Amino acid sequence: MIKKINEIAATVKGFLPKNKNDVEVFRIKYLGKSGVLNQLFEEFKNVPVEEKKEIGRSINNLKEQLKNKISSFDFSEKKNKNTNLEDLTKKVKVNNLGSRHPLSIIEGEIVEVFSSIGFSVAEGPEIEDDWHNFSALNTPEEHPARDMQDTFFIQSDPSILLRSHTSSVQVRHMENNSPPIRILSPGRVYRNEAISSRAHCLFHQIEGLYIDKDVSFADLKKTLLFFAKKLFGENSKIRLRPSFFPFTEPSAEVDVYWGLKNENDYRITKGTGWLEILGCGMVDPNVLENCGIDSKKYTGFAFGMGIERIAMLKYKIDDIRLFFENDARFLQQFNFSL
Ligand code: DAH
Repeated sequence: MIKKINEIAATVKGFLPKNKNDVEVFRIKYLGKSGVLNQLFEEFKNVPVEEKKEIGRSINNLKEQLKNKISSFDFSEKKNKNTNLEDLTKKVKVNNLGSRHPLSIIEGEIVEVFSSIGFSVAEGPEIEDDWHNFSALNTPEEHPARDMQDTFFIQSDPSILLRSHTSSVQVRHMENNSPPIRILSPGRVYRNEAISSRAHCLFHQIEGLYIDKDVSFADLKKTLLFFAKKLFGENSKIRLRPSFFPFTEPSAEVDVYWGLKNENDYRITKGTGWLEILGCGMVDPNVLENCGIDSKKYTGFAFGMGIERIAMLKYKIDDIRLFFENDARFLQQFNFSL
């Protein structure tokens, strides 16, 4: 009988069910009312007394083995749901993943457009001196053009200030590099302005500068048209209006055609259909000379634009303050990746 029990134990050990049903059939076969185990107990009655102890222990061991075996297979649904292997193709839900700030997105797009035509990024300090922010840019002290930008000066030393435009980076770069120069300078600027939906005391600009032999106004125009088409679409049109900046001569302001499709277009373009996006011009020879570049040998163009302004146009944002309030409801709208 021992031999028989051992054989049954070996079969039980090798049992491998495929599903819940296999386990149930197995249970009934061995532990059911007229199952294998009860038959063994039946036979046990006839076992000679001297063998009872050994055989009894073997049957009980087999019973334990059977119970353990059955409980080791859990095909219940609850268990299945908790298993990570349930469906490996299922989309993962990631909560609270951050997104890029709209200003970073637009800055990235602008940098990408100009990188594709050979411009590289150059940066400069936000705390500037008078020379790099004004004097070298053909705006000496007492020059009325200084009033164009309300500047924050350091009280104890008025020759130190928070840069009022990124044109200061032009100067720094020209002082330390020789032509050909093709740079783009994104960064934060500061102005002492009353905060409103249209103006802030801090905002961001991107400056462009191209210096080489024979750079012309036509090059400037063509470069800006290329930029407008890339940023606002292939059908974009631009126009240049004469303007004044101390560091460029001639100077212009550039408008992009926005259209007059609805009432809002009339409002933001003041009924013209055109929107101003940047200032530009041919670098004034005085500026080149101030920075150690021979103005008889080289010419160049420069341009500067506000990143907030471009972002407001592209994303139809009507209040500049939203960029700086860090309201998650505003920022989450730019989470394009999910
Ligand atoms: N710095 C000017 C501003 O802040 C923008 C600007 C205009 C930059 C003309 C330029 C330029 O480089 O050529 O309003």
